Amino acid sequence: MDAKSVIIYSSVDGQTLKICNKLVEEFNLLDQNVALFSIDDFTENINNYDKIIIGASIRYGVHNKSIIDFINTNKEVLDSKKTVFFSVNLVARKPEKNTAETNPYVVKFFKSIDWKPTIVEVFAGNLDYQKYPFFDRIMIQFIMWMTKGPTDSKSKIEYTNWDKVSQFGKQIVKL
Ligand SMILES: Cc1cc2nc3c(=O)[nH]c(=O)nc-3n(C[C@H](O)[C@H](O)[C@H](O)COP(=O)(O)O)c2cc1C
Repeated sequence: MDAKSVIIYSSVDGQTLKICNKLVEEFNLLDQNVALFSIDDFTENINNYDKIIIGASIRYGVHNKSIIDFINTNKEVLDSKKTVFFSVNLVARKPEKNTAETNPYVVKFFKSIDWKPTIVEVFAGNLDYQKYPFFDRIMIQFIMWMTKGPTDSKSKIEYTNWDKVSQFGKQIVKL
């Protein structure tokens, strides 16, 4: 019987969800089923799954608290399964900061949590200043200015590397 897989995500503006949808596509291309849930809607028992994929974006330096709580609460079960974690953030637009070993948020995250997934990945996210409320826009402009990124408030750039997402999808389908 096929392994039962689930993707559980947290996404505020939809980019992490868009990446999850691409991963679902990769599963389906290889005739594999995968369930997809937002962390807020996940009420099932994760023991029902063999492969658990968790994706979350970074907001102001951290991943969503519900995701962190979920990992901490289910640590023992997670340790007994095949697990995958991926982070989505804008710092990962820089080639030297786009791996699990070099992305500062991912490195910090795994220092703060007692969990070692089978696979960890990081993807660059989406920048869309016009979508953000005033305060967030100013803050992101400041973060981008500090990291030498675009600060024009009309900037709308999807930094996600979709080939990398597809490759990752194929890798986790086979896991
Ligand atoms: C309010 C806000 C705060 C953010 N903070 C960070 C940050 O601290 N570091 C970073 O690299 N990206 C940051 N980002 C960029 C997001 O991680 C990026 O836009 C990602 O695509 C969001 O994914 P989501 O739509 O799934 O939430 C921030 C974005 C917003 C809107």
